[in-house]
Amino acid sequence: MLELKSKNQFSKHFLNKKLNKKALDLACGNGKYSFQLAKNGWYVESVDKNKELQNIFLNYKNINFNLIDLEKDKSYLIKKPFNQKYDLIIVSKYLYRPILEIIPTLLKFKGILIYQTFMKGNEKLGPPRNVDYLLKKNELKSLINENYKLIMFDQGKRKLDSKVCMIQTLIISSIKK
Ligand SMILES: C[S@@+](CC[C@H](N)C(=O)[O-])C[C@H]1O[C@@H](n2cnc3c(N)ncnc32)[C@H](O)[C@@H]1O
Repeated sequence: MLELKSKNQFSKHFLNKKLNKKALDLACGNGKYSFQLAKNGWYVESVDKNKELQNIFLNYKNINFNLIDLEKDKSYLIKKPFNQKYDLIIVSKYLYRPILEIIPTLLKFKGILIYQTFMKGNEKLGPPRNVDYLLKKNELKSLINENYKLIMFDQGKRKLDSKVCMIQTLIISSIKK
């Protein structure tokens, strides 16, 4: 589960009932965030390259699962259906640097991006150890510019899904109208 310093942040951005609001769950895995969102009234575009995940989303009418390899063609994210803007974007435990800067541009005005993944130092604690999948210190802060307001940034050794790991978390809100 996403490790956020304050549970209030989590519920404020993520769990409150948000009827008809649109979320994007990138590299959604088994859909734990997509499902929580859908149950709370969100419409979710979920993306993953793993074909085996397709069936688990079938019974959720407000989740659209997209079988896509984000690393094959980074222009996916700027084409339909992703070129619409989102109220919430979640990226958890996934990093592909060529699309990093595109992700916040998919936010609506006041939309929220919650990005959390492993960072340097994690190689000493467990997988992933490949530096291509580990953020550098402060790296997610590079997403902040005049179009986004910082809500939360945190990094270091934290417990995630009951394992100690090095993680970085960024929450930003779009202030671009
Ligand atoms: C560690 S899991 C994280 C899943 C989920 N976000 C979570 O936090 O539980 C990483 C996910 O990224 C997906 N993934 C890896 N490379 C991908 C790619 N190139 N395009 C789309 N999804 C990818 C994997 O299939 C896997 O489901």
